[in-house]
Amino acid sequence: MANKLSLTASYIAVKFYGLTLNPKIASYFTPFTISFYEKVVSYLPAKLSWNQTAFRVRFWRNFFVWWEELLLPGDLMHIISRKYYVEHAVRKAINEGCEQLVVLGSGFDHNGALFASENIPSFEIDTHSMIEHKRKMLTQNGFNSEFLNLCPIDPANQNIKEVLSETGEFDPNRKTVFLAEGFFDYLSIESTRVILENITDLCSDLKLISTFFDLGELNFFHRFMFTSGVAMVGETLKLPLNRKEYISLLNEYDLKVENETNYSKIELELISKMDIDLPVLKGFYIMESTKY
Ligand SMILES: C[S@@+](CC[C@H](N)C(=O)[O-])C[C@H]1O[C@@H](n2cnc3c(N)ncnc32)[C@H](O)[C@@H]1O
Repeated sequence: MANKLSLTASYIAVKFYGLTLNPKIASYFTPFTISFYEKVVSYLPAKLSWNQTAFRVRFWRNFFVWWEELLLPGDLMHIISRKYYVEHAVRKAINEGCEQLVVLGSGFDHNGALFASENIPSFEIDTHSMIEHKRKMLTQNGFNSEFLNLCPIDPANQNIKEVLSETGEFDPNRKTVFLAEGFFDYLSIESTRVILENITDLCSDLKLISTFFDLGELNFFHRFMFTSGVAMVGETLKLPLNRKEYISLLNEYDLKVENETNYSKIELELISKMDIDLPVLKGFYIMESTKY
């Protein structure tokens, strides 16, 4: 389909936008990040962006939170958590010497635009149709930057190495931070292996920040709600690994997990400080790894 929109990527932006209308949550994010997602939501087709009006009404906001929590407790706060921790982890990687950022399956994520605005060469990789949507959204809202490279990929016929090399801007000799947020979960183990092989082969000095869902930590009902929710929007959770197996897979490609943030740490460290009485999705992890 010519302009197919990833609904999982769109709903992440919609949920983030809706939740950050709460000032207690918004205070943990910069104005750049908040306004970025507001603009993404305005860009989305009316059937998705109706939320922008509805969420301004407290009753509908509360109803939406109640409904979501009933179906899959913690799903909402996991979106807030991943946007918070991932941005901080990318910044940490840059402070530790990474000179460029690659966002795998970038969807409507803000990190490429954010770090490009700070003159860090950033590369966003997604399908042709999603990259076109992103380009339009960025152009409409003045987010374009000479440091931001939007890289369309045809996953069946191209690999990440080719796509990055074709930009003429990517330097494999520079220390690079790769971001895989909500990405590998949607790929088969074979595709995940190809990508890990590609990035570790391309760059000798790299960090990989990835999110991971261990579905085995959810009970049967919540696991069903999670997988069927994703299926309802035409996508599939495919990576059949638990946390230990995922870490072993990273190790096979010489990627060592140096920092791991799990849902209970997030509840303690972030959500309780926000004074919000909502859980974070069980089985959700953010892993920061380095090639050794
Ligand atoms: C769940 S969304 C996550 C978006 C974004 N990373 C975030 O967390 O806000 C997954 C994204 O990966 C993209 N995607 C799926 N398979 C891909 C592949 N093989 N190569 C590049 N992008 C892919 C989808 O189009 C979608 O935008």
